[in-house]
Amino acid sequence: SKDENGVSQVVLRSPRGASARISLHGGQVRSWKNERGEELLFTSSKAIFKPPAAVRGGIPICFPQFGNRGSLEQHGFARNRMWVVDENPPPLQSTDHSSGNAFIDLLRKSSDDDMKSWPHRYELRLRVILSVDGYLTLISRIRNVNCKPFSFSFAYHTYFSVSDIRQEIHLNDSEVRVEGLETLDYLDNLCNRERFTEQGDALTFESEVDRVYLSSSDAVAVFDHEKKRTFVIRKEGLPDVVVWNPWEKKSKAIADFGDDEYKHMLCVDAAAIEKPITLKPGEEWTGRVDLSVTASLY
Ligand code: BG6
Repeated sequence: SKDENGVSQVVLRSPRGASARISLHGGQVRSWKNERGEELLFTSSKAIFKPPAAVRGGIPICFPQFGNRGSLEQHGFARNRMWVVDENPPPLQSTDHSSGNAFIDLLRKSSDDDMKSWPHRYELRLRVILSVDGYLTLISRIRNVNCKPFSFSFAYHTYFSVSDIRQEIHLNDSEVRVEGLETLDYLDNLCNRERFTEQGDALTFESEVDRVYLSSSDAVAVFDHEKKRTFVIRKEGLPDVVVWNPWEKKSKAIADFGDDEYKHMLCVDAAAIEKPITLKPGEEWTGRVDLSVTASLY
């Protein structure tokens, strides 16, 4: 099918009615719905769907740069460019296509345009799998098809939809919180990337957050009491976790984002940022994230 701007997109469906929609613009997951048809990812009502800008919401892919840590455009170019369906996908692992799983393979190869700002030949393959249970897996494989090494950073910039992130409106533990980042060091983008250590038991939200948690364990959970929903983010090859919410003031400065929408989104990204990945010619890197959602255990 086509998206809002006429760009091809692919819809995956589970036998029990969960779905995921992926656009060739950016190789971006645009929608992920559970079996009840409820949208699990946030997309801004002000999102601009016209390429080349990345769409505000879903799961944009940040490659080969995260944020403005380098000379490239913010979050790299992969999210802005057109991808194709991969005609020559990597072999399936037995777990990828266990019966009932739906999947699609996309590909982005370095173009002359990419080469102008980043003179390296790469192939970026993305497999998106929707399992029978309605869980979402993204596997990215990046290959150096050049004759010299290159380095990059990477993130699955995942916009989760949440009930209301503001701690102040909730009582006791009725809130949105993130677990799995306790005691970790993080770089705070709001303080010149200074390094701090997380002191809290769980992360709750009362102001702007823009952090890169370093070398996290392989599972991080987002609890949403009001929606009675828990997201679990499992990851491989992606040591860092970005947590971002622009809050009230910053929201107003983002053109493709509604002034009040910060209440209903939270980005928690599986990422490789602090230590860039280096690939020698012919080498390949794999970064995988598994997103599951369950009724909360409250
Ligand atoms: C986050 C960054 O991941 O993405 C923030 O940590 C940034 O600093 C945000 O503002 C949104 O970026 P963009 O380019 O999609 O507006």
